[in-house]
Amino acid sequence: TDLSTLDPNIYTSSSNEALSIALAGSGKAVSFHPDFTYPIFGDAEQIFGYKDLVIHLVFDSVSLYPFLNVRYSEKRDDADEVESKLLELLPKETVVKDEALWQDKIDEEHLEIPGEILSSYTHKGENYHVYKLSINKCAKSLKLHRRMQIFVLFFIEAGSYIDAKDDMWEIYVVYKEDKTFIGFATGYSYWKYPGHEIFDSDAKYLWRKKISQFVILPPYQGQSHGSQLYKTIFEQWFKDDQVAEITVEDPSEAFDDLRDRCDLERLYQRGLLETLPEPVISPEWFRTQQAKEKIEKRQFQRCVEMLLLHALK
Ligand code: ACO
Repeated sequence: TDLSTLDPNIYTSSSNEALSIALAGSGKAVSFHPDFTYPIFGDAEQIFGYKDLVIHLVFDSVSLYPFLNVRYSEKRDDADEVESKLLELLPKETVVKDEALWQDKIDEEHLEIPGEILSSYTHKGENYHVYKLSINKCAKSLKLHRRMQIFVLFFIEAGSYIDAKDDMWEIYVVYKEDKTFIGFATGYSYWKYPGHEIFDSDAKYLWRKKISQFVILPPYQGQSHGSQLYKTIFEQWFKDDQVAEITVEDPSEAFDDLRDRCDLERLYQRGLLETLPEPVISPEWFRTQQAKEKIEKRQFQRCVEMLLLHALK
């Protein structure tokens, strides 16, 4: 008897390790693993019933056209569902197993990156662009967003899909010049002053903007793409007279870090320190500057505190 067939452990895989995500395009394919798969495979993040399980989830690096291929050397009759669980969360056009068909679909579609370029920057001699997608007005943008949204589940703890029918969503995407998807963020607009609040007659500030989901894919993290994306979104909203405040939904520790660095740099460059009254900060100064910088109260307090400490040096 082959004892291995009796041992349940041999049929148990970590879903984070078994799932191999890749971006494939003109250059070499890059692959990486998700940080989270519990929304798909359950809290234990384990898949039972397969030997040598590898789940290949491959995206075309420009159009993100998805391809799914579940491979294993052995499968038990009582094995967990894998393919159907993933397909529920992937767009309908996802190609399963047939790699040649997937290539044909990509060639046939020949999707060019839709949307408007908001900013461009260079990192290590390569050009990158930040695009704004209008998922309400542009079918290609909506299609592209449907393909990328699974990254929210894979990389943001407690992340969930947005309601793309809601007009208030904005999508921002980073691409290495026409070649590779790097990451994306979603933003949402709220009314800052709900009906019952009395506001002066010059009611020019109307919106509160929120960064809701923010993902830079693992192979591209730590190369300033997150900072560039954050700065682009912030600047876009900041220069809009209708925007009164910019906030972030439930930021992770890594995102808080990025936000602190970017906010401090901006406030420093804008000369906030020179406007500080000596030696005590008045509530009036705080309110005026907070409104002017369009940062929510708690974050502005943290930034001012850090700048004050910096000034003491
Ligand atoms: N050379 C070397 N290091 C650099 C360079 C460079 N050229 N540029 C930036 N770095 C360093 C930064 O100093 C920073 O270092 P630190 O972490 O020690 O402070 C680090 O790289 C990260 O900065 P960026 O590169 O600008 O940020 P990144 O592109 O890695 O994005 C993010 C950060 C968004 C948190 C990313 O890691 C990510 O997507 N993580 C997974 C998902 C996640 O947590 N998302 C946020 C959830 S919260 C929300 O959605 C609202």
